[in-house]
Amino acid sequence: MFILGIETTCDETGIALIEAKEDKVKILKNELATQYKVHQQYGGVVPILAAREHKKNLPLLLKNIEKNFDLRKIEFLSFSVGPGLLPALVSGKEFVQDLAKKLNKKIIPVDHLLAHFYSVLIRNKIGWQKIKEINFPSLVLIVSGGHTSLYLFKNWQEKRKLGETLDDAAGEVLDKCARYLGLPYPGGPEIEKLAKKSKNYFPLPKPMLQRGYHFSFSGLKTAFIDLVDEIKKYKKIDEEIPNLCFSLQKTIFEILIYKLKKAKENFKVQDIAISGGVAANQTLRKMVKKNFPNNKIYFPERKLSTDNGLNIAFGGYLLFKNGTLPLSYQEIDVYPRSI
Ligand code: KG4
Ligand code: ZN
Repeated sequence: MFILGIETTCDETGIALIEAKEDKVKILKNELATQYKVHQQYGGVVPILAAREHKKNLPLLLKNIEKNFDLRKIEFLSFSVGPGLLPALVSGKEFVQDLAKKLNKKIIPVDHLLAHFYSVLIRNKIGWQKIKEINFPSLVLIVSGGHTSLYLFKNWQEKRKLGETLDDAAGEVLDKCARYLGLPYPGGPEIEKLAKKSKNYFPLPKPMLQRGYHFSFSGLKTAFIDLVDEIKKYKKIDEEIPNLCFSLQKTIFEILIYKLKKAKENFKVQDIAISGGVAANQTLRKMVKKNFPNNKIYFPERKLSTDNGLNIAFGGYLLFKNGTLPLSYQEIDVYPRSI
């Protein structure tokens, strides 16, 4: 069966077309329009501008898919239903509703965080591929610009949220601290690059380590900003930027690993999946592998770590395969907050 997936939760507009059969999937198109240039000057995503860009980009991406594919052949549409920025989600919803009406097709809403999790099971390659297997219960950490959430999955859909950030998300802190250092948006990849040139580590606080599985990063962000201001008093900040990037990144990743370890031991979990934009970070990947030598660790391919339509199309397929029924276009809505 053919499935079209639409992603508009944040600042990436994505539409992908896949073909799926039992435990196999084939990627036919994965169209993406990145908006970072629009938001760069503001140092973060501006929701209303994101919605405007999605509205502009969605028809263009669809045109590329329609060029050599008859959309009437699809089984159903899937779209990213939330969590995300409300105006951005609404632009995706309206687009998918119009399309469903026009094609007389139904829709499977796909939770954006669930799609980040499922994305660890596929590869971004041409031709048919077998969907990877994962053992439940599994621990799933979604770490992005909007979320830092830890889940225990009993099976494909039944999840228990163990904890989440009570303030900033890990990626958000990387973005905001990068901005304070005068680095371009998005900050995560810039910090990763600069951290490689570091020689020294500045100790930074690790808030909320003892409080269950919740996270809090805003105190760390404030401590980082104070440290930058302190350094600026006696030397040029440029010399210390690699060390600051290294220290911030290392502190955030150690917090994530601490909570993962605690959950792994408590719930006797074998398989661990880490996804979301920050999971693209190679240092994080290395640190996790080193800390969990006896567990099977799943990361998405770098290109699938950040938002895209393929994750949503594939998410729609796994939900369908596990019994989710598609809805009519009048039945769908969006949710900005995670559930
Ligand atoms: O999942 P995503 O594309 O969008 C959200 O749902 O937020 O994640 C974007 C976030 C941004 O905060 C960005 O700085 C971060 O992921 N990010 C990274 C890297 N690549 C993207 N953080 C650390 N290292 C990276 N290589
Ligand atoms: Zn995301």
